[in-house]
This record gives sequence, structure tokens and C-alpha cells, in this order.
Amino acid sequence: MKKEICVRGDDKELIEKFLKRISLFRNFNTRSLQCVLGEFKVITVENNEDVVFQDDEGTDLYIVLKGKVKVSLTGLDGNEFILTELKEGDFFGEMSLIDGKSRSANVIALEDTTLGVLPRDMFICTMKENNAIAFDLLEALIQRLRKSNDMIESLAFLDVNERLVKFLIDDARKHRETVKGSHYIARKRTHQEMASHIGVSREAVTKALKALSFRKTVIEEDGYFLISSDAASEFSVDK
Ligand code: CMP
Repeated sequence: MKKEICVRGDDKELIEKFLKRISLFRNFNTRSLQCVLGEFKVITVENNEDVVFQDDEGTDLYIVLKGKVKVSLTGLDGNEFILTELKEGDFFGEMSLIDGKSRSANVIALEDTTLGVLPRDMFICTMKENNAIAFDLLEALIQRLRKSNDMIESLAFLDVNERLVKFLIDDARKHRETVKGSHYIARKRTHQEMASHIGVSREAVTKALKALSFRKTVIEEDGYFLISSDAASEFSVDK
């Protein structure tokens, strides 16, 4: 259940320090930060709880203070496609905040998560006063666009085995998992979860994993996958 937390003076100081460390707020001056904190709401959501529904109205900006969420789309058949996962310091909700249209995707907590919620007017007003903030937002949006292009490229040009290997290698690199011997290490996920990330059915992931295990490209261990470091070039996913 969503719960609003009462923000006390000490918490405000901690939130201010936290915001100063994240790129979207690095150009806020002290006065703007104080204004933001005056309007800032903090909420908690439980694992698996929806924060934002695709097509809902809403213009608040959310900042992940603690925890993790996924951004996903739901097909007409109810299948889920995961666009990205966001962690501490990331933000979401900027699309409706800027164009005033309905939410473009669902955002769902992947663990118990604490979020900062900022009303649209506050953010827009500060952004208009300070062009550097608009530029930081633009930079973040361009990074997302690049990632989306990368995902479109995978969907358009890679087969299921290649997509799975690419996803596991990207995941291993994102979490800075160390290379063990000549292997990347990616944390274990369910077949359904991987299917939702690469846009195929759970059965297709099971089949691909069997083929990749047979070739020793991917080895399933307790709690993690080992992916042969040769796989990146072999599967043309070395980016
Ligand atoms: P908004 O449309 O307001 O609500 C859903 C949010 O999900 C959206 O703003 C973005 O913050 C986020 N989102 C939507 N699409 C993507 C994407 N392709 N990559 C990363 N985040 C996204």
C-alpha cells in the first residue's frame, strides 16, 4: 500500500544531500533546492505495487530515493514488456510532466521502494529560471533515447539466442559484476522476467537457454549465470 511519510527537518537535510548528488538536481542552487524541498512529498511503495499506470493522468515527477522500479508496457494480450529498470537516484514521470499527456508506461516497484514526489509546476518554474536544469533533463532524455534505439535494434535484428546473450551481458556490465575467469556473471532471473525484457515468450527463453547451455555459452549456477566472454563477439553483441 502507498504510504506518505512525514518529512522532518533531519530527513530534509538528508534528502537535500541526496538530491545534490544526482545529475538532474546538480544545477539547482540552494534557493531552488529549498523551494523544491518545501513541495517535496515522500512516499513508500511495497514490492510489486504500481506507482504509475500507463494511460493514467498525472504530471508529478518521481525520484527513486531507495529501492528499484521497472518501467513496462502491457500488450493487449496482457504480456509485459520491460523497457528499463530504475534504481536509486533515477527519476521518472518527466514525459507527462513536460507534454501534459497521459502516462506513457507503467512503473512498478521491484522491491520495497521510497520515492520523492515533486509537483510539475515547481519543477517547470525552476527549469524556466535556469537553463542548465533543462539541459540536464535533455541529456537524461537523450540517454534514454539511445538505450531505446539499442533495444529497437535488438528487436529488429537479433534472434532470440542473441537477444538473450546481449541482455545477460548488458545486465552483468550494468551491475558491474566482475568477470570470473573468462566469463561474465549476471544475476539469475526467472525465465518469465528475461522474456519480458527481450520481448519473447517464456517458452522461447527456456528453449534458448537450453541451446546456449548445450554450447556452454551460458552456464546456470546457483543464483547466477556465467556467460562466456567470447559470446559477445560470437553473437555480435559487443557494444
Ligand atoms: P511518464 O510518461 O510521465 O510516466 C511513465 C514514465 O516511464 C515516463 O514518464 C518515463 O519517466 C518512463 N519511461 C517511459 N518510457 C521509457 C523508456 N523507454 N526508457 C526509460 N524510461 C521510460
